[in-house]
Amino acid sequence: MRDVEPQHTPVLLAETLAALEPARGGWFVDGTIGLGGHTAAILRAGARGVIAIDRDPGALRSAAERLAGYGDRVRFVHGDFRSLKRMLMEMGWSQVNGVLVDLGISSWQLDDPTRGFSFRHDGPLDMRMDATASLTAADIVNTWTEAELAEAIQQWGEERYARRVARSIVNTRRTAPITTTHHLAALVRQAIPTRGPQRIDPATRTFQALRIAVNRELDGLEAFVSDAVDVLAPGGRLAVITFHSLEDRPIKHALRREAGLPDEDAPVDFWGRRLTPTPRLRLLHRRPIVPTEAEAASNPRARSAKLRSAERL
Ligand SMILES: C[S@@+](CC[C@H](N)C(=O)[O-])C[C@H]1O[C@@H](n2cnc3c(N)ncnc32)[C@H](O)[C@@H]1O
Repeated sequence: MRDVEPQHTPVLLAETLAALEPARGGWFVDGTIGLGGHTAAILRAGARGVIAIDRDPGALRSAAERLAGYGDRVRFVHGDFRSLKRMLMEMGWSQVNGVLVDLGISSWQLDDPTRGFSFRHDGPLDMRMDATASLTAADIVNTWTEAELAEAIQQWGEERYARRVARSIVNTRRTAPITTTHHLAALVRQAIPTRGPQRIDPATRTFQALRIAVNRELDGLEAFVSDAVDVLAPGGRLAVITFHSLEDRPIKHALRREAGLPDEDAPVDFWGRRLTPTPRLRLLHRRPIVPTEAEAASNPRARSAKLRSAERL
């Protein structure tokens, strides 16, 4: 059977399968099909089928090719997993047995210079996961005000020198628009004071911020958890893999609330009491699962991964 290429290693694969238990059969949603690595393993483990979603039409095309051997056990849908409930309704599904999302971008997107995600290659400042969307990183860099840029870079890049970076962007674009990854990376590096060798490239944080802004990656993650719970059959499993604290935090809080656990972010009533809804989930583990040393050593992308999972009551 044609399958995913050997060098593509899905993150936390064994742990994700242990959480989802596809051997129980039934239909699963992979909300971020990417190269299809997790889905192929879910199907091999015994799931009846997978509804495969991605907002990147290119990822869907390539996954469809790689997973062709599974025939109608995979249904491909172009869209955003945050619209999962609506998409399933439109397809005529009311319940599924498991939902997986593996956030962020795939190595395939990162390594493609034409997508503009990485400053390691020179390319257009694009960064759209969905090339049919309109806003690009170049639009942001060349049109947002200095204050808007500084706020985005501070908030989503957690860059302490965000104001300096924003000022430098605005000063540079007065002469000519900033349109390439190398141009932006060079001016960010110049704007940030550094002493001695750096653990990560100083441009990393600004690039992360822009990617999050272009794709609105942090919007609606809590609502997604609640929608996923709505469509899970009793005993169904939800698994979420995150790569940085900005995306892990909303997932953690939403899962805790759905599990009926005390949560400092929970809404409060008129008297200031925390509202704890009736539990709909049981957390499969209190702490997130992180890669083993062996996985972190063999797959650098896995190093910051965290898996959270829960069962529908
Ligand atoms: C880390 S990769 C997934 C890798 C996949 N699990 C595998 O084994 O090959 C993330 C994928 O999710 C997609 N993606 C990210 N955010 C999305 C969203 N909100 N809705 C749908 N797809 C999304 C990206 O386009 C990318 O293809």
